[in-house]
Amino acid sequence: MEQLNRRKLFDVFKPNTNALIYLRGGSVTHRYDTDFEYSFRQESNFLYLTGVQEPDFHVIFDLKDRTWHLVIPKRDAKFAVWMGHVHKPDYYKERFKPDSVLYDEQLELVLSKRKPDLVYCLNVAQAKSLERYKVEVETETLSEALSYCRSIKTPEELDKMRFASDVAGRAHIAAMKRAQTATSEYQVKAAYEFVTSEAGLLHQPYSGIFASGANSAILHYVENNRSFDRNTHFLIDAGAEYQGYAADITRSFPVNGRYSGIYADFYDIVLQALTETTSGARPGVKMEDLHLHACRVILDGLKRIGMLKGNISDMMEVNLFALFFPHGLGHFLGLDTHDVGGYLKGVEPIDRPGLRFLRARRTLEKGMVITIEPGLYIIPALIEPAFTDPVYKSFLQEDALRKQLGFGGIRIEDNLVITENGTDNLTTVPKKRAEIEALLG
Ligand code: GLY
Ligand code: MN
Ligand code: MN
Repeated sequence: MEQLNRRKLFDVFKPNTNALIYLRGGSVTHRYDTDFEYSFRQESNFLYLTGVQEPDFHVIFDLKDRTWHLVIPKRDAKFAVWMGHVHKPDYYKERFKPDSVLYDEQLELVLSKRKPDLVYCLNVAQAKSLERYKVEVETETLSEALSYCRSIKTPEELDKMRFASDVAGRAHIAAMKRAQTATSEYQVKAAYEFVTSEAGLLHQPYSGIFASGANSAILHYVENNRSFDRNTHFLIDAGAEYQGYAADITRSFPVNGRYSGIYADFYDIVLQALTETTSGARPGVKMEDLHLHACRVILDGLKRIGMLKGNISDMMEVNLFALFFPHGLGHFLGLDTHDVGGYLKGVEPIDRPGLRFLRARRTLEKGMVITIEPGLYIIPALIEPAFTDPVYKSFLQEDALRKQLGFGGIRIEDNLVITENGTDNLTTVPKKRAEIEALLG
């Protein structure tokens, strides 16, 4: 697969130029000043272009002859003792099929002695590391080029994402079932991670959210350590990562397995926002328009169930939706959970509440992978001041909303591939009320 990725990258640049592309892969990091090592996860651009999952590698692409050269660290016996496996260059030549394999001490050979007119680097830090080779460097073009390549997935990448989604889907189902007997959020997390770890997926693409009751309205809740009982509801936002590729799925459910009352009402609004925006997603459609459509569905639903009053267009005009849905509708997904390519160069976020946090402002194209993740939250820090806000207060049914101040939130999140005419949903976890009720029987 990396071969196709490399070809895509070469194709972005002018052919036959006397220039190189240089990237440094990731290194092991430690917890503060200790010798505790965080488990290594390769930097995504490096992984995309080389497939190498080991730390301290570099790579050079030669735009003149479209060759590539893997630069490996010289490991000593101490490394073998503590970290295992020290391979010779031939091993990497055979495994990754670069045009050559060099030790890092030979980097000079392909840099200064090769006399490139320019070396494209990913960022200033990587460019600085080349200072001693006295080459001309440029740090704008490469990250743009990689974002461009990575935002359209190849069939092989989609296979990996489908596998990550399938494992995450099984983990969600196991965790939802575990919530029925668990008394603490971390027990639900443990049930989730048992499934992903047992499938050999040892990295999580992001810190999972296992939130009971009111914690479900904290958008980045990661403590996951509160007790709960069967009378509450739960939100799980957790994924899986396969060969670097992420799934990012959210489900919300009542712990006792029965949707009722206000929870059922709110759930249906979020599900409708998800269903309608999923149906609307296709090539040519803008992410911000889908986001605004979700906002309208949420406002409409809240009015229908007696939480809001007034004209929906007037509410849209004053961005009332951001009180209840304060994050973006979705983002690109791939090697990173919030994948690259969401904003083309020169495009800025829309300076409007809620939309400001939309991580992708692109017109959709075939082969992109996005999340769609509408949510509806009762966040006291936003709603209480709104009761006296001169712009918002006339739209709010204060008595009805006050009763829900400890409610928490609901989010439903699927992962979609943009196809020729619509979308292919990678997420297989049930989301209809009746399906979840049947699952939690
Ligand atoms: N779990 C991160 C996100 O949904 O964006
Ligand atoms: Mn997401
Ligand atoms: Mn998520």
